[in-house]
Amino acid sequence: MAFDVETVLSQLTEQDKIALLSGTSDFWHTHSIPSHQVPPIRLTDGPNGIRGTKFFAGVPAACLPCGTALAATWDAPLLEKAGVLLAKECISKGAHCWLGPTVNIPRSPLGGRGFESFSEDPHLSGIIASAMIRGCESKGIVSAVKHFVCNDQEHERRAVDVLVTPRALREIYLKPFQIVARDARPGALMTSYNKINGKHVVEDEKMLNGLLRTEWGWDPLIISDWYGTYSTVDSLNAGMDLEMPGVSRYRGRYIESALQARLVKASTVDERARRVLSFVNRMSEVSVSNVEKGRDYPEDRALNRDVCASSIVLLKNDGGLLPLKKDAQTIALIGSHVMAPSISGGGSASLRPYYAVSLYEAVREAVPNAKIICETGAYSHKMMPVIERLLSNAVINFYNSPVSDVGRECLHTEPVSTTGFQFMDFRAPGLNRECFWATLVGDFTPDATGIWDFGLSVFGTANLYLDDELVIDNTSHQTKGTSFFGKGTVEERGSKTLESGRSYKIRLEFGSANTTTMKTVGMVNFGGGAANLGASLRLTPDDMLNSAVNAATEADYAIVCTGLNPDWESEGFDRASMDLPPGVDKLISSVLSVAKDKTVIVNHSGTPVTMSWEPQAQAIIQAWYGGNETGHGVADVLFGNLSPSGKLPLSWPSDVRHNPSYLNFGSVGGRVLYGEDVYVGYRFYDKTRCPPLFPFGHGLSYTTFEISPTVEVGPVSHHTSLPAAVRVYVKNTGDVPGAEVLQLYVAVPQPAIGRPDKELHGFQKTFLQPGEERAVDITIDAYATSFWDDIEDKWKSEAGEYELLVGVSSREIVSKGSFILSQTRYWQGL
Ligand code: BGC
Repeated sequence: MAFDVETVLSQLTEQDKIALLSGTSDFWHTHSIPSHQVPPIRLTDGPNGIRGTKFFAGVPAACLPCGTALAATWDAPLLEKAGVLLAKECISKGAHCWLGPTVNIPRSPLGGRGFESFSEDPHLSGIIASAMIRGCESKGIVSAVKHFVCNDQEHERRAVDVLVTPRALREIYLKPFQIVARDARPGALMTSYNKINGKHVVEDEKMLNGLLRTEWGWDPLIISDWYGTYSTVDSLNAGMDLEMPGVSRYRGRYIESALQARLVKASTVDERARRVLSFVNRMSEVSVSNVEKGRDYPEDRALNRDVCASSIVLLKNDGGLLPLKKDAQTIALIGSHVMAPSISGGGSASLRPYYAVSLYEAVREAVPNAKIICETGAYSHKMMPVIERLLSNAVINFYNSPVSDVGRECLHTEPVSTTGFQFMDFRAPGLNRECFWATLVGDFTPDATGIWDFGLSVFGTANLYLDDELVIDNTSHQTKGTSFFGKGTVEERGSKTLESGRSYKIRLEFGSANTTTMKTVGMVNFGGGAANLGASLRLTPDDMLNSAVNAATEADYAIVCTGLNPDWESEGFDRASMDLPPGVDKLISSVLSVAKDKTVIVNHSGTPVTMSWEPQAQAIIQAWYGGNETGHGVADVLFGNLSPSGKLPLSWPSDVRHNPSYLNFGSVGGRVLYGEDVYVGYRFYDKTRCPPLFPFGHGLSYTTFEISPTVEVGPVSHHTSLPAAVRVYVKNTGDVPGAEVLQLYVAVPQPAIGRPDKELHGFQKTFLQPGEERAVDITIDAYATSFWDDIEDKWKSEAGEYELLVGVSSREIVSKGSFILSQTRYWQGL
C-alpha cells in the first residue's frame, strides 16, 4: 500500500532512516519499518532470468538467451516482450526489482561476463537495454541497470583501476547508460566494483550525484553491487543510496558515528532515505506473489523459442548446405553439447531452469523418422559435469558441528537433484551461517562400466566418499582456483572402477566457507560456501574421436555441436584464451576432413572463440547460450523452420591477438589501461583495415534481399538539427520468408579530430514474405553527430558533411546518402 514519503520521513527516527540505507541479512531485501507500514522490497538476479531468493534449491525459472544472444536479435520490439516476461517472472518470485540488464562493454573476447553484456557497440547496447527495461517496467517492476560503469573484466574487479580517457568513457562505456536514461529511465541503477581513474565509482560524487543526477537529470535508486560498498562517508556523500546486501558492513552504527563527527550531514542521510522510501513506495503498489513460485506457460515458451531462434547467427553457409533436408535418413549428432545444452553462462546470471531442451531432443522432434547417431567426440568441460541423471535419493543434511562430533544434531534436510550447490544466501533455523557443515548422501548409479573420474571443487572444505571409501580429499590441502566467483579451489580429482547399473553410496562431507584456511584475495566473500562434484566416464580421446569420425562418415549429415559452458565463461574470472576447450578443434577438423560437404558446426559460447578450422567448414552457426529453448532454437534454424536473422553484436577476430584490447586486458599493477580508447570492436578493425574473421553486424539468411542503393534522407528535426530518419526500400527476392537487419552507420569524411571511420546510430529489423517489398524508415539517433570534446568537457556536434551508410553488416554497405549539418553545437545532458 502506498504511503506519503515526506510524512513517513518526517516521523522516522535517525536509526530507522539509517536502517533503510542497507539491505537485510538475507541478501535480497530492503529493511522494513512495520510501525510506519514501510514494507520490505525484494531484489533479484539476474540479467537473463529471475532466480529469486535462492542460489541453493532455488525455485525453477524461465531462462532467456544470454545478453550477447539477445543483442544478436537486433529486435527491440521482441526484446520488449522479453522484458515483460522477466517482469512476470519477478512477480511470481515475489520480487519487485530485476537486477538487470547488464550494459557493460565486452571490449575483449576474454571478459568472463562478456556473455552477460549485449554488445561492443554502445548504441546497440543502449537501444536493446531500453527495450527490455520498458517491457519490464510496464508491469510495475523496476529494473536496476548495471554495472555503472566499466566493470568490463573480472580480474581484480573490486580493486582494478580503469584508466580511461574522458572521451572513451563518454562515447563508449557511459553511452549505453545515457541512452537508457534518455529512452527508458529505469527506476534503479547498480554501481560497479571497480575504480575509474583512481576512484571507486561507488564513492565518486562526480559520477553519481554529478553525472547521473545533475547532468543527466535522472534519479534512479542507486544500489551498490553486492559487497561493492567500501566506505561509509564517501559512498553516502557521493550519492549511493542502498548498500547491498546486509548485514551492513559500512552503514548502520558507522553512519551514526559519521553524523556525530559531522563527516556526513543529516540532510544527506535524509536525502538517501527519501530515495529508498520513494522506491519502496513505488514498489509497494505492485502486487507480487507472497510465496516464491514458478510459472511456465506455453506462450512464454513460444516467446523464448522465438527469441532464441532469432538470436542465432548463420556465420557461413557455402554451397547452401543449410537448411538441412528433413528427409535425411541418418543424422550424426556429434559433440559435448548435443545432450547437455549450455543454457547460460556462470555466476549470478545462472539459475535453475524450468527445463532445458537439448539439441538431441529438438532434432528428434524435427525429424522423427531419421536415424540419429550420437557421439561425444571430445569432452568440453573444464570441471567434471555435476551428477544429475545418475543420482538418486539424494539429500543434504545441515549441522553446526563437523562430522567428528559424533552426536551432532541435524538441523535441516534438503532433497537435491544435483551435486553442485552454492550456499551464499542459504539459511535454516538454528544454523550458524558463519560456520556450518553439511553432508550430501545419495545413490550414484553409473550407466557404463569402467574407470569413473570424479572432480571436486569447493569454496570451504569437502571430502568425497564412495561406499565409505575416501576418493577425494579437498580439505587437508587446498589450491586456489577460479570457481565460485574466484573463491573456490581448483578441482581435485579421484577415480574408481565402477560397474554399470550398480548403485554406489555417494557421501560428500562439506564444511562452509569459513572452514577453509586457503587465502582468496581480492574477490567478494559471499559466505556460506559452495561445492561442485562432477563425474565422467574415462574414455580414450582417440576412441571418442574415431567413433565421431565414423558416425560422420556414415550419416547423411553431421552436426557438430560444441563450444563453451559456465566452466569457461563466468562471473568471477576471465577466460585464459579465446580457444575452444582442448580437443574440440581436433574433433571439428577431423570430422571436416572426412565429411566437409555435409557437416554443420554449431558453436555455443557467449563471446567469440578461435575457429582455426573455419576455412574447411561449409556451414557455421553461432548459437550463444540459448536459455530453456536452446535445442529448439538451433533445430528451427538447422531445418529451416525459419530463416536465420541474427547478426553479430561483436566483431569476431580470427586470433585474440588481433583484438584491440589485447595488450591491455586484465589488471597489471592494479590498473587496466583502456589503450584502444574509442576504437573498441569494429571501430578498431575499420580504422586499421584489418578485417576480423566475421565482422560486427554480420549474419546470413536463407533468403536474399534487394536494397535500394540510395538512402532517402528525411526532414531535419528542430530538436536535434539532424534528419530524424532515413528511408530505404527492401525487397525479399528469395523463396522463403526472412528478416533483414538494416544497420545505419554515420561517417564523418573530414572530422576535426580523429574519429572512428563510422559508428552505428540506428538499425531496423524488417520481416518480409517472398516477393514483398517495403519502405523501411530508420531513426537516426540524436547523438549521431556528436563526439566528446575533452577540452571543452562537453559533447560537440560539429558542422560539416555526414555520410549515412546503410549496411547489412559493418563491412557490407549497400546504400548511401549524406547530409550537411550547418552549425556546430556544444551540449551536455541527455
Ligand atoms: C554481481 C551482480 C549481481 C549481484 C547479486 C554480484 O556479484 O556483480 O551483477 O546482481 O552479485 O547476485
